[in-house]
Amino acid sequence: MPITPQELVTFCKKKSFIYSSSDIYGGIAGLYDYGHLGTLLKHNFEHLWRKYFLSLNDNFFEIQGSNIMHENVFKASGHLENFIDPIIRCSKCDFGDRADHFITTQIKQRTEGFSPEQLTALVQKHNLKCPQCTSEFQPVTILNMMFPLNMGTSSTNRAYLRPETAQTPYVNFKLQYESQRKKLPLGLAVIGNAYRNEISPRNFTLRQREFTQAELQIFFNPEKIAQHSDFDLIKNYSLRTLLVEDRKQNQVIERTAQELVKAGLPKFYVYHLVKIQQFYLEHLKIHPEKFRLYQLNDQEKAFYNKYHFDLEIELSEHGFTEMGGLHYRTDHDLVGHQKISKQSMEILDEETNSKFIPHVLELSFGVDRNIYALLDLNHHDDKERGNIVLKLPSKLTPIYCAVFPLVKNKPELVVVAKKIYSELKPLYSCLYDETASVGRRYARADEIGVKYCITIDFESLDDHAITIRDRDTTQQQRIKIADLKDKLYQLYIQE
Ligand code: GAP
Repeated sequence: MPITPQELVTFCKKKSFIYSSSDIYGGIAGLYDYGHLGTLLKHNFEHLWRKYFLSLNDNFFEIQGSNIMHENVFKASGHLENFIDPIIRCSKCDFGDRADHFITTQIKQRTEGFSPEQLTALVQKHNLKCPQCTSEFQPVTILNMMFPLNMGTSSTNRAYLRPETAQTPYVNFKLQYESQRKKLPLGLAVIGNAYRNEISPRNFTLRQREFTQAELQIFFNPEKIAQHSDFDLIKNYSLRTLLVEDRKQNQVIERTAQELVKAGLPKFYVYHLVKIQQFYLEHLKIHPEKFRLYQLNDQEKAFYNKYHFDLEIELSEHGFTEMGGLHYRTDHDLVGHQKISKQSMEILDEETNSKFIPHVLELSFGVDRNIYALLDLNHHDDKERGNIVLKLPSKLTPIYCAVFPLVKNKPELVVVAKKIYSELKPLYSCLYDETASVGRRYARADEIGVKYCITIDFESLDDHAITIRDRDTTQQQRIKIADLKDKLYQLYIQE
């Protein structure tokens, strides 16, 4: 039985993964805190993401930037003008909601990207009324989703909390390009927070007002978009795609990288689609059937994108849900920054001796949404064991191993267990537990995803060996204490 969203929320709070921010005051909609285990899981996800995507090219780096940015950044990027959501308000009571979401739920038709006029027309056509007081709606209007701030005492010093991490690499591009030996493609990644005044934050961490993004901006020569030096290595790799033309059948079609290029997508773009799918299937261990690359049509694409696929995971109850996207942003942002800052974003490519403004390919991921998906898909209610088993992959799970003395009232066992624990702790996230029966301790460990439980029993005192139990199979192996570190390392590397 899949877990319901409400059960997941309850589980996350009970086990100290994620819960409402300012919880003791009743919480605030759209804001969440991560507890001890949630923080470990989030760090592991970010670490895996960083290692994987920064390894795609020697010229990819991570940078950090302020969450508060100059108003001109968003004039240049177009967010001041275009980062807006349609809102629907009741003409009588205080009901308000995001218009496209509300109308989609009511009439069961996708309305993403529709103009306020189109949405108002749909409200009239379907005779939609306020769900709170049944009155008429006002015409649909728009709201800018950024949070403005006044800096210091001056009311003219306008700044904004960044609505995407992407703007940090764009405003840093010229400086980084100069300091990284003027080479393209140049990748600048940021893992950090973004802020959006969502009209109706909902579905736990799927739609928040403050959330973490992991985004990689790749600056490249637009003349080279039809090539990638490693394309031949992946040309026969099958991608799980749902193109605009597949929507009628609403079915994922497997297409090789080569076929997508034949269908008109550039090699540079397709190469990164492959790398993203490999990240989800091979590293996050998402079952292929639960993953798809969903192509957006012209109406749905973000205002800055030329090519846009969403990366979607099928959640237990929410269906296929966007976790990230691959965005070809062209020179939209750098041209905007050049215009407003009056600083040239042009570079001289020494290889081709040509001058141009680089284009950007953006690999964008919402960290919290991915964490939600990982918790949702890996949460199993194991009827045979009679407890929850959180089957997170080894490199993601918050606690990799646990050390138990079989009983706590035998000091000889406790001494050995504590020694093993102190040796493993600097190497892996590891816990020590000596309370309750060993069966109860296994169950507690399963619930928070501990991959291996190491038990020191009476025989250990004679044979200098322990048992190691695998969370997923419950099988146990006996291993010499002297070999334990190597064994755990081998398992960690393989998984
Ligand atoms: N830089 C491009 C960009 O920000 P986006 O599609 O608006 O693109 C990227 O956001 C990802 O950030 C989304 O795919 C999603 O995973 C995450 N995200 C966006 N809005 C969110 C929200 N309100 N709450 C949680 N995650 C969100």
